[in-house]
Amino acid sequence: MSEQTTYSASSQRYDKYDSIYQRCGKSGVLLPKVSLGMWHNFGGNDSYERSRDVLHYAFDHGITHFDLANNYGPPYGTAEITFGKIMDQDFRPYRDEMFISTKAGYDMWPGPYGNFGSRKYLLASLDQSLKRMRLDYVDLFYSHRYDPLTPEEETLQALVDAVCSGKALYVGISNWPLEPLKRAEKYLREHDVPLLIYQGKLNMLDREPIESGILEFCCESGVGFIAFSPLAQGLLTDRYLHGIPADSRMAQEKFLRSSRLTPEMLEYIRTLAKDAVAAGRTTAQQALAWVLQQQGVTSVLVGASSVGQLADNISVMDCI
Ligand SMILES: NC(=O)c1ccc[n+]([C@@H]2O[C@H](COP(=O)([O-])OP(=O)(O)OC[C@H]3O[C@@H](n4cnc5c(N)ncnc54)[C@H](OP(=O)(O)O)[C@@H]3O)[C@@H](O)[C@H]2O)c1
Repeated sequence: MSEQTTYSASSQRYDKYDSIYQRCGKSGVLLPKVSLGMWHNFGGNDSYERSRDVLHYAFDHGITHFDLANNYGPPYGTAEITFGKIMDQDFRPYRDEMFISTKAGYDMWPGPYGNFGSRKYLLASLDQSLKRMRLDYVDLFYSHRYDPLTPEEETLQALVDAVCSGKALYVGISNWPLEPLKRAEKYLREHDVPLLIYQGKLNMLDREPIESGILEFCCESGVGFIAFSPLAQGLLTDRYLHGIPADSRMAQEKFLRSSRLTPEMLEYIRTLAKDAVAAGRTTAQQALAWVLQQQGVTSVLVGASSVGQLADNISVMDCI
């Protein structure tokens, strides 16, 4: 049942059209240079009102791409549930203006069919994601990680079939090594479902997609590239310059550990902050600008635990 409210998207959301959107590889799709990821801060344990405010702020400022995965939360699945609720309450009239992605590949449910890269897992997971998000289709469905024990063709054919069944419009690959990525690009092209985008971790501290040749391959083959954790989960901002805030990701000691905040790291962040001032940017914007300036990068996929952080991050598009 629809729970519509009075949300009405800003009439100015496309005022900066030319500075916001960028073509995704050689596809027909334009993506915002800053996209919003829902890995953290949108789960069942987070404030629904804050999640909603952040999503509204994003869409009101031209951020049309929202990135999810089956297991985002915590608990698993609850970021999709939050998104589905907001879809019904507020976003339904704007569905065609949005580019929504989800993924399967990491552990989601118990037993042998809730993890990795089998057809059984991927297609069941996609059905579950659609139900949680209250959607008929996603714009983009990803294989979330490479599974060396499942034949690549099985995983890739499941992606092709997700598109053929109308449950996804495009497919993506995340965290696959270079050689399997090359084979995936070829397989998908030959099965008329071209690989839209690669999602990989890229930030000033972690340049693996550049060093491995993945970014160059994407660029040369017309595949888009979206950089996740472009702020190194918050390290490349002012967040930890004066200690570890109690409400920060690092305070949870799970995905971002305090052991990373060495004296050398603090010195690196202080230098970044000084360079940012000199460039007329905030620290976060300086780090995001570095990623966006790498050839072949379509979009940076940021997280945000407040509207203020998202506003800061989005404004990088005004200063690159
Ligand atoms: N494909 C994959 O395997 C994979 C893996 C990881 C992520 N992702 C995707 O990438 C998205 C982003 O990842 P991420 O959350 O690690 O990205 P990130 O942008 O590097 O880090 C986000 C965190 O940094 C802090 N932050 C953000 N903007 C800030 C600002 N302006 N000033 C100060 N602090 C700021 C916040 O931390 P606090 O919460 O402490 O405030 C926020 O939660 C995910 O949501 C997901 O969609 C994909």
